[in-house]
Amino acid sequence: MARQHTVFTAAVAAALLAVGTIASANGLLYVCDTTRLASNNQCIFAASSTNTIGATPHNINRAVAADGFRIVRDINGTQLTVTPKPWSQGDVLAASTTQQTGDALNYVKAFEMVAPLRDKMMYDPASLTGSAAEWAKYTKAFADCSIKTTTEQVTHGSGTVTAYGTADVYALMANPNNQDIHNGVLQYLEEGAIDLVCVMTQLSMDRCTTMRTTLNIPTGGTSTCWQAAYDALYNSAATTTTTAATTATTTTAPATTTTPSTTTSSAAAVSAAAAVVGVLAMLL
Ligand SMILES: *[C@@H]1O[C@H](CO)[C@@H](O)[C@H](O)[C@H]1NC(C)=O
Repeated sequence: MARQHTVFTAAVAAALLAVGTIASANGLLYVCDTTRLASNNQCIFAASSTNTIGATPHNINRAVAADGFRIVRDINGTQLTVTPKPWSQGDVLAASTTQQTGDALNYVKAFEMVAPLRDKMMYDPASLTGSAAEWAKYTKAFADCSIKTTTEQVTHGSGTVTAYGTADVYALMANPNNQDIHNGVLQYLEEGAIDLVCVMTQLSMDRCTTMRTTLNIPTGGTSTCWQAAYDALYNSAATTTTTAATTATTTTAPATTTTPSTTTSSAAAVSAAAAVVGVLAMLL
């Protein structure tokens, strides 16, 4: 119970933080490099005029520590934990002396799958658009876990924005039509990453409820749908502690539904988390 509360409070805090600064900051950090957009019709992410922290790939290195002893740190060296906060500029894989297990371990593995995809989509899209096999390899976790399967029109205020699915974001990257598509790419990456964390951990938010329903994951459980993609990416039969979790860890999880039975604080978490996505969408 105490653990649930901790996870829950962290999710609320992160969601509120994300609403206030992080999510919008991510979109505002970048533009498509105008020269290369014009000359090559490719969107290579570059620092926007207001960006003071750079525009560089995560360049993760799994050799920093043995399996189980890697964590994610942000640009200031703060360890990142399971929250809906999107990964951002300067997040890196780092060594820890504390062994990571369960959700904490899977959060790191999610980063190890999404960070290389982010790097390629943002800084080397040609490596993906030039090879359907590469695209399939780096998006395999999304495909296997039924993440970003379709393109959705999301109503926001008086406008509608497009949240691209995997096939359509690929087409967009292949031909941006000389338009700055960086928000569409970021939204795909950030929502896809949240959905992946949803199925790998017990993160609580509305997107997670949707994903768990889609994948038939019992409340409080996780899925191993991502395991084959992880193994293919790193060519290893990585150890995992989640195999039994799909059916086992049914600790009555924090309420993630919008049913009237949700407590005040959980309702706040749901709406805060929904607002994160809203802010992401608004960037378009
Ligand atoms: C890192 O620290 C700076 C200076 O305190 C702060 O402005 C920035 O928001 C921090 N970045 C993150 C991701 O926490």
